[in-house]
Amino acid sequence: MTDNPTDAAGTPAPGTPAPDAAAPQAAAPQAAGPDAAQPTDERSPYERMGGAETFRAIVHRFYENVRTTPDLHALYPEEDLGPAEDRLRLFLEQYWGGPTTYSEQRGHPRLRMRHAPFKVTPAQRDNWLACMHDAVGSVEMDKAARDELWNYLSRAADAMINAFEGEDMTPTHRRNLL
Ligand code: HEM
Repeated sequence: MTDNPTDAAGTPAPGTPAPDAAAPQAAAPQAAGPDAAQPTDERSPYERMGGAETFRAIVHRFYENVRTTPDLHALYPEEDLGPAEDRLRLFLEQYWGGPTTYSEQRGHPRLRMRHAPFKVTPAQRDNWLACMHDAVGSVEMDKAARDELWNYLSRAADAMINAFEGEDMTPTHRRNLL
């Protein structure tokens, strides 16, 4: 096992962020004079996305949705989802350039390794993303920031798949497709 959380998920597509890669940087300031048409936004993604209040709201809503999705809820080892909510919130805040409390408390994220004890099938990925899609849609955010957040979450969720229970794993050439 390496530190790379996407190690078992194949080579990511070009430009694909590793789920817990270094936090994206604030947009680079452009060398533009006072007449430049486009104002630059030097805030971190964390700030552009709305900061602590937004991450708290998204992750809280996400876990409310987990509670009402029995198949997904069954994966969570603790009866009380509060601590899991804190861990996901702190991770996301850190990933997008906010406070680094997650690593101070938990060390390196190593997300794929931390998910290894749980069977994350494509169906569970879909459940997770459905809960998250509703949560990300429930907050105020400008479109570019929301797209950036959602793009990352959906790719990271793909990278977390580690089991294919119930999927037909028969190689295509051995299936009777006719
Ligand atoms: C694809 C579907 C996913 C499933 C089914 C899933 C499930 C779980 C479960 C059961 C836990 C243990 C609860 C806990 O003790 O915290 C967990 C922890 C966690 N998950 Fe996921 N997860 C998924 C995707 C993701 C994604 C995409 C991210 C990040 C973008 C993520 C971030 C985390 C974090 C930060 C923790 C806590 C790690 C720690 O122990 O510090 N998960 N997840």
